Amino acid sequence: MRVGILGSGLMGGKLGTIFAHAGHEVVFSYARRKEKLETLARDAGRKARAGTPAEAAQSADVLLLAVHWSRVEDVLNQAGDLSGKVIVTCSLPMNADDTELVLGHTASGAEELAKRVPEARVVCAFNTVPSEVLFGVFEARRKATRPGLVYCGDDPGSKGIAAELIRDAGFDPVDAGPLRIARYTEPFALLVAQLAYEGTEGPELAYRFEWLGK
Ligand SMILES: NC(=O)c1ccc[n+]([C@@H]2O[C@H](COP(=O)([O-])OP(=O)(O)OC[C@H]3O[C@@H](n4cnc5c(N)ncnc54)[C@H](OP(=O)(O)O)[C@@H]3O)[C@@H](O)[C@H]2O)c1
Repeated sequence: MRVGILGSGLMGGKLGTIFAHAGHEVVFSYARRKEKLETLARDAGRKARAGTPAEAAQSADVLLLAVHWSRVEDVLNQAGDLSGKVIVTCSLPMNADDTELVLGHTASGAEELAKRVPEARVVCAFNTVPSEVLFGVFEARRKATRPGLVYCGDDPGSKGIAAELIRDAGFDPVDAGPLRIARYTEPFALLVAQLAYEGTEGPELAYRFEWLGK
């Protein structure tokens, strides 16, 4: 597939590199310096190049949105017409200093994005995983047990595309249902990030997972 990366930081830089290594054509876009995009593209190999958000969007089968919430408007304006495009978003609706979600429980960043670009097909994925584990999961992709990664969306075709990317990145795609489920996955993603980054200072938790069947 042709994958446009909108936001080439920790998430976009790593996932774009992984998608290129998995055989997709990747355009890295949206960083503060053009040289960074060129370095990323060079390091990701023959399948990758650097471009503007409009170039990344132009020929893309799927776009990865990986910018801070405060930059979403800007990158979408630069990307131009996204009619019919599949947008996989990992962007969490965080406040300026990344301490809190600005939406939750009754709305989600993914749903706001779908309202902001109604002519696009939005899938929420990759937001529940810290960027630090991405390369390790990709390297271990041929092992029998793969970590699950939840995704949600309203359009079956775009969910199929997202599931393919998730699989190519080394995860087992877990369909969590319609896009409104992002209301629950986005706060969960924040919790996982707090656990990952704050260590013993993070939240105290008790998890109980149950297999409910189909
Ligand atoms: N990091 C994680 O582990 C993680 C996990 C789950 C979800 N998320 C979510 O994923 C999204 C992206 O996170 P991230 O950690 O990848 O963020 P990041 O490393 O800060 O990447 C954001 C990208 O946007 C670019 N950018 C920012 N301001 C810009 C501007 N004014 N002009 C042009 N480019 C600009 C940055 O450029 P530079 O490269 O020049 O800085 C960078 O390439 C966020 O919504 C975050 O909540 C992150």
